[in-house]
Amino acid sequence: MNILEKAHNQTGIGVPIWFMRQAGRYLPEYRALREYFGQFLDLCFDPEAACEVTLQPLLRFPKLSAAIIFSDILIVPYGLGQEVSFHENGVQKGPVLKPFTPHLWEGMKAVTPDLFLEKVSPLFETLQKVRANLAPEKNLIGFAGAPWTLATYMLGALQIRHTAYTQPDFLHEVIDKLVQMVTCLLEAQIRSGADCVQLFDPHSQGLPDDLWTRFCLKPVHKIIASLKEAHPNVPILLYTKVTSFLLNDLNPDVLSIDTAVPLSYARNILQPRVAIQGNLDPELLVVGGGALTKRVQAILDSLAHGPFIFNLGHGILPTTPIDHVSQVVEQVTNFKRVGKV
Ligand code: CP3
Repeated sequence: MNILEKAHNQTGIGVPIWFMRQAGRYLPEYRALREYFGQFLDLCFDPEAACEVTLQPLLRFPKLSAAIIFSDILIVPYGLGQEVSFHENGVQKGPVLKPFTPHLWEGMKAVTPDLFLEKVSPLFETLQKVRANLAPEKNLIGFAGAPWTLATYMLGALQIRHTAYTQPDFLHEVIDKLVQMVTCLLEAQIRSGADCVQLFDPHSQGLPDDLWTRFCLKPVHKIIASLKEAHPNVPILLYTKVTSFLLNDLNPDVLSIDTAVPLSYARNILQPRVAIQGNLDPELLVVGGGALTKRVQAILDSLAHGPFIFNLGHGILPTTPIDHVSQVVEQVTNFKRVGKV
């Protein structure tokens, strides 16, 4: 059963559950393995280690429904020749990309899908290894960043908004290149064993409608259309902060919603049109206790009687206690679905 069928199955198997960033620094076994790799991308591109990290959360929490392949959205700029590094401390904490110069862009334009896939090819080996080691009833989720979010990292968050007004045709070319690469990346992940794919578009908020339509919506539509044509039965999940996405006709199979989306809106407006995934606040998973149990129950009561996958509204935080994760997995998997009331 794929994750979409599990989301729709309102009796029998219970509510499907996984966590964004479920493999990561809150797990001591991840931190131990991470220490051996200087650069984060070296870990991502080591199939043996990346497979182990992908499976770590399922060993800890055997009732999780899915594994998400261990990688990062920034392998796309990396595969196109833009250097990416990750800084753990200091002012530049987080990912740092080499500046996007005209020279770099000339080089990127010459990168064909084949060259790109070759550069990120260890990922496909990781997928094959994970699929071979994962129980058949568990889903394997492949993923990629959506074009706007990727371009935000590649050009810089301030620069991209300026460029959208001053050089829209150039930005369009960059986004088109990303549409092509993301599509072939997700197709290659499906061929290597991913049962479903999630597009991450966390930076898609705050744009005026015309820019959002041109640079976020249409590119995502193009990717969904190509994937649906090539792999009609592979569910597509989309994480976005712009739920008006659904006012359009080409939709993902699952909409992964941010913590800020009200449950009543998710239930009454969104869920009749699409399966929902989300939206527990990762901070509450750190806090734990009665407040956590109460909120998990409220999410289940609102959404779990319709098509639903339990998840967070953002990625899991490194300070999350493991016990809190176990507690939520128990609570969610013990919940009885009775169909929409
Ligand atoms: O969900 C998973 O377990 C799969 C792996 C995964 C990672 N990143 C691993 C990772 C996924 C799906 C992502 C997605 C991702 N990466 C997004 C979209 C979702 C979101 O969080 O908004 C974005 C914007 C990125 C870019 C990125 N990668 C940032 C901003 C950072 C630094 C922040 C941080 O948590 O350190 C990363 C690094 C990163 N990606 C880590 C992990 C486990 C931590 C790096 C380390 O362990 O050294």
